[in-house]
Amino acid sequence: MKTRITELLGIEHPIMQGGMHFVGLAELAAAVSNAGGLGVITGLTQRSPDDLLHEIAKFRDMSDKPFGVNLTFLPSVSPPDYPGYVRAIVDSGVKIVETAGYNPQKWLPELKKAGILVIHKCTSVRHALKAEAIGCDAVSVDGFECGGHPGEDDVPNFILLPRVAEELKIPLLASGGMADGRSLVAALAMGADGMNMGTRFIATREAPVHDNVKRAIVAASELDTRLIMRPLRNTERVLANAAVGRLLEKEKALGADVRFEDISDEVSGVYAKIMREGDMGAGAWSCGMVVGLIDDIPTVKELIDRIMQEAEKIIRGRLEGMLLTGAS
Ligand SMILES: Cc1cc2nc3c(=O)[nH]c(=O)nc-3n(C[C@H](O)[C@H](O)[C@H](O)COP(=O)(O)O)c2cc1C
Repeated sequence: MKTRITELLGIEHPIMQGGMHFVGLAELAAAVSNAGGLGVITGLTQRSPDDLLHEIAKFRDMSDKPFGVNLTFLPSVSPPDYPGYVRAIVDSGVKIVETAGYNPQKWLPELKKAGILVIHKCTSVRHALKAEAIGCDAVSVDGFECGGHPGEDDVPNFILLPRVAEELKIPLLASGGMADGRSLVAALAMGADGMNMGTRFIATREAPVHDNVKRAIVAASELDTRLIMRPLRNTERVLANAAVGRLLEKEKALGADVRFEDISDEVSGVYAKIMREGDMGAGAWSCGMVVGLIDDIPTVKELIDRIMQEAEKIIRGRLEGMLLTGAS
């Protein structure tokens, strides 16, 4: 399939893997890139810019295909060494960066000078247009259903995608709720040039996370996610579990007075325990409503090939068939 995204990024299929804390390591990124999509290494999962350099080198041992690095700008108790991470990205010759969270304007001159394509991920029409205005090369929009941070506007992709598509000129990726060939065709129909997936890629053989995480995704339904940190205006969609239940009780009891310190036990430093050790009660972890559509743990290549075959079947069979039926 050829779209503005495959052309821009030099990839075979219009499918990207979004940055994911403690999931977006070289193993998953290389599997996605080798299968014809765009794999992404999550920058801040690496504890230092030097560690990021090693992870990039590790990717290159496994793949010579295009890939990206995610740089997330979110509220943080002690901000990471962003200048150091940007330098590591530039020095290692990375050609694609996915930014998310705050406006990446501050870092654009350095990234653009190095010839890096910047895909900014955001959750609203106004932020998508801002990204275009400051010189980003593509935008990825996360609808309200997404795993991770859906923002505070609560606009799902059925509205958000066509709204962004009617105003944005640069290539657009649909993110949030994407799982299969149906998602891809729907995203293209709504004006996107490709799709970005998070949760779906965790339930793959190559995702470097504990099997308990993959099993939890397969077992969960579309009713099993919760929104946390709404009162802090840092909303995150996570999988429901006992820790999330405790956190939500605290938010309810403290109301508008809740501070990050009140809930830090359930959210700080929990990713390593969950993703590496499979300690599923350790805290809150990002997960999209799309869990309701995930029933298996294929290899990344099986997943991507299946998506592309299914998309073709829908376009050539179901949709075209409807037109023919209508004409006869
Ligand atoms: C476990 C997990 C961790 C994530 N971590 C990050 C992150 O560090 N930075 C980021 O920009 N997005 C992060 N995301 C969001 C994804 O990149 C992607 O935008 C989102 O998962 C899309 O929604 P979906 O899960 O419905 O596919 C994370 C998502 C998940 C599920």
